[in-house]
Amino acid sequence: MSERTLVLVKPDGVSRGLVGEVISRIERKGLGLAALELRTVDRATAEQHYAEHDGKPFFADLVEFITGGPLVAMVVEGTRAIAAFRQLAGGTDPVEKATPGTIRGDFGLEVQFNLVHGSDSPESAEREIKLWFPNL
Ligand code: CMP
Repeated sequence: MSERTLVLVKPDGVSRGLVGEVISRIERKGLGLAALELRTVDRATAEQHYAEHDGKPFFADLVEFITGGPLVAMVVEGTRAIAAFRQLAGGTDPVEKATPGTIRGDFGLEVQFNLVHGSDSPESAEREIKLWFPNL
């Protein structure tokens, strides 16, 4: 079943020159792009995006980081796109959880600077796509 998911190459991924690498892995997996934009996100959007983490000890740093430089937001589509991108990304902690061969496992070291985001459920995907690409 075809699905859509919201993918971010976070500011650390952009500054490290990994945008092409991430897009290449998405395309080689067989997924497609429905939307793509380089943008610097404002605080309100960042806080909405990460609303479920509001109140956690890392929330303020996370919002600071995600608003701190340009990121690439995209809508990725294809069969089981939500789970498929999360497989490509690897676990949230690039060392403890993500395995080699995944984006985070190959390129990441720290939980906060874990390079990419992907929606974690159909409900999150719908909410996040509406937030980032309201006209799609
Ligand atoms: P992401 O998949 O975008 O979803 C929530 C983000 O919060 C996560 O990736 C990490 O970047 C960040 N995060 C999760 N846990 C921690 C933590 N313990 N310390 C700092 N950042 C975290």
